[in-house]
Amino acid sequence: MSVLEGKKIVLIVTGGIAAYKTASLIRLLIKRGCKVQVIMTPEAINFITPLTLSTLSNNPVYTQFFDGKTGEWTSHVDLALQADYIVVAPATSNTLSKMASAEADNLALATYLSAKNIVFFAPAMDLDMYKNPYNKENIEKLIQKGDICIPPNKGELASGLEGEGRMAEPEEIVNFIENFIRKELLFYKKKILITAGPTYEPIDPVRFIGNHSSGKMGFEIAKVAEKLGAEVTLISGPCNQKLSNYSSILRIDVISSEEMYKAVDAHYQWADIVIMAAAVADYRPKTVSKIKIKKEEDSFSLPLIKNKDILLHLGNTKDNQFLVGFALETNDEENNALKKLQKKNLDMIVLNSLRDDGAGFSYDTNKITILDKQGNIEYFDLQTKEKVAVNILNSIHVRIKT
Ligand code: PMT
Repeated sequence: MSVLEGKKIVLIVTGGIAAYKTASLIRLLIKRGCKVQVIMTPEAINFITPLTLSTLSNNPVYTQFFDGKTGEWTSHVDLALQADYIVVAPATSNTLSKMASAEADNLALATYLSAKNIVFFAPAMDLDMYKNPYNKENIEKLIQKGDICIPPNKGELASGLEGEGRMAEPEEIVNFIENFIRKELLFYKKKILITAGPTYEPIDPVRFIGNHSSGKMGFEIAKVAEKLGAEVTLISGPCNQKLSNYSSILRIDVISSEEMYKAVDAHYQWADIVIMAAAVADYRPKTVSKIKIKKEEDSFSLPLIKNKDILLHLGNTKDNQFLVGFALETNDEENNALKKLQKKNLDMIVLNSLRDDGAGFSYDTNKITILDKQGNIEYFDLQTKEKVAVNILNSIHVRIKT
């Protein structure tokens, strides 16, 4: 999923030939899930029509403070405040100069000057204009102020000359913005290994021992971690959860506890953080019948043997990983969770209790308590599993920072 999903972009189009490329830029931003509001300078409308950009952005395009027909005033402050990011593309030398000297003689500039959010600008001009020391000085001033320059390319220019000043291609602009946002994220480049769902321990070709885990909790953690910039490997037991739009998450499907152990162990050294949300079966049938067991006797007993405790193994072989376990309890909750935290050498444990309404298996909600190895306890209200995932990841972030 793109980090731009759901973001509101104010795109300021200024008067240069590269304005025609904003048609593709808008389409790419919308494809990434952005809402785009276009503002054009008075000169920009000579290069591409507001109608084209309005149609592509599914929004009216603003070009002036006052609507000539209705006499209505467009609030530059509202336009600036509603945006997550402002993108000035193409940014002509004229507009850059006015931005750097706080001139506000059109709606686009007034909006820029009212902005408190991050502003990206993509210079576009002829090579000598680009090289001009005053222009360079303006760009430097804007960078010093905190705006982000998307550097122009070298290449053929509208004048027929070759050199630096060609606006970055729409694809490059979008990639640049995405990369910038990703780097600012809480878990940028952190490698997070997550388990989810139940395990099935086979009895015979048709039956198994399993549990009610739907995988929702672990999948929500994986999705939120990815949104926060992490590289995610998700090891999942059998469940119906989907990861559409999260193509960067590596999903590994397993069935039994033994398979989950092998997959987790194989990725343990890769991981910076491990979150074990799976409900792993503690026991499995001692032998697995190759044929379906017939119903003959009135009673039937099945010898079970203990499964490897994956989390205990991780705790015993821990390097620098931040290790998070879950505890699903029905009684004496905090004490049991604390014992698991200590016995399994965890950094943090997430407790959920089946005594809380709406918590635990299959619900879209959960109610958790977080305990850590320093003895801190945090209590949370019943929330959606997505919000619970955010809380868990925030709690991890606070602890790995200190
Ligand atoms: O999937 P959902 O329907 O959304 O439900 C979410 C959940 C209730 C499954 C989840 O929130 C949860 O509590 N997961 C852990 C369930 C569990 O097995 O708890 P436990 O207290 O039995 O195990 C303690 C920890 O040891 C867990 O992190 C577990 O993954 C791990 N474990 C357990 C047994 C085993 N053999 N190996 C393990 O690694």
